[in-house]
Amino acid sequence: MNYPGSRVLETARLTLRPFCAADAQQAFDNWMSDPLVTQYLTWAPHGDIAFTRRLLAAWEEEAKLDDVFHWAIVLRGSGEVVGDISVVSLDRRAESAQVGYCLCRRRWGRGIMTEALSAVIGYLFAAVGVWRIEGTYVADNAASGRVMEKCGMQREGVARQAWVLPSGERADLVHRAVLRGEWQRSRRGAARWVNLLWQAK
Ligand SMILES: CC(C)(COP(=O)(O)OP(=O)(O)OC[C@H]1O[C@@H](n2cnc3c(N)ncnc32)[C@H](O)[C@@H]1OP(=O)(O)O)[C@@H](O)C(=O)NCCC(=O)NCCS
Repeated sequence: MNYPGSRVLETARLTLRPFCAADAQQAFDNWMSDPLVTQYLTWAPHGDIAFTRRLLAAWEEEAKLDDVFHWAIVLRGSGEVVGDISVVSLDRRAESAQVGYCLCRRRWGRGIMTEALSAVIGYLFAAVGVWRIEGTYVADNAASGRVMEKCGMQREGVARQAWVLPSGERADLVHRAVLRGEWQRSRRGAARWVNLLWQAK
């Protein structure tokens, strides 16, 4: 595998780039303080922008590392920071990356996360050289499952009652993944492969 860090990725409507401390206000307003966004995530909504400021300052530092893959999702037209996508864990021996993401509620349902995840998958296969990309989502979170499905991630199974919702209720976790060979064989993957290899240089 290679460790080129979080290079800037451009798609039709989006720029994916590392976070900086100055993104804190938009991140807080757009999704980090929204309980609907975080209902299926591992963290609670931020109650205080001071916390968001400290977090984003830490992310700006972390972005200097070449084995961190973490991007702010920015709308190309307006420059608005609308979401977050990252590798949440990387298994170097298995060459396997787990991805996670979230998006500002006002922007849901327009294909934005599918566009962002597609680009990240292409980058992880082409530039980082991973073998496998996986993701999990709470079974009720159909929108997240559909994003992964549209990006070619196959359903592999369900971990029963493996998640605890903010209410304390237990929920099933669905696992999906895509392998490098599958991505290369897909038409969409083949086109992205070439573009991203070029961009990563
Ligand atoms: C999940 C999330 C990232 C999706 O982002 P998005 O930009 O709205 O996703 P897209 O528009 O690319 O695709 C969403 C798909 O789910 C479908 N969908 C949305 N709600 C759905 C529902 N309740 N049931 C079934 N399908 C649903 C949409 O119709 C769309 O599919 P389509 O293109 O075939 O019509 C966004 O809702 C989000 O940030 N949620 C909160 C954070 C989160 O859950 N993160 C993932 C944790 S695993």
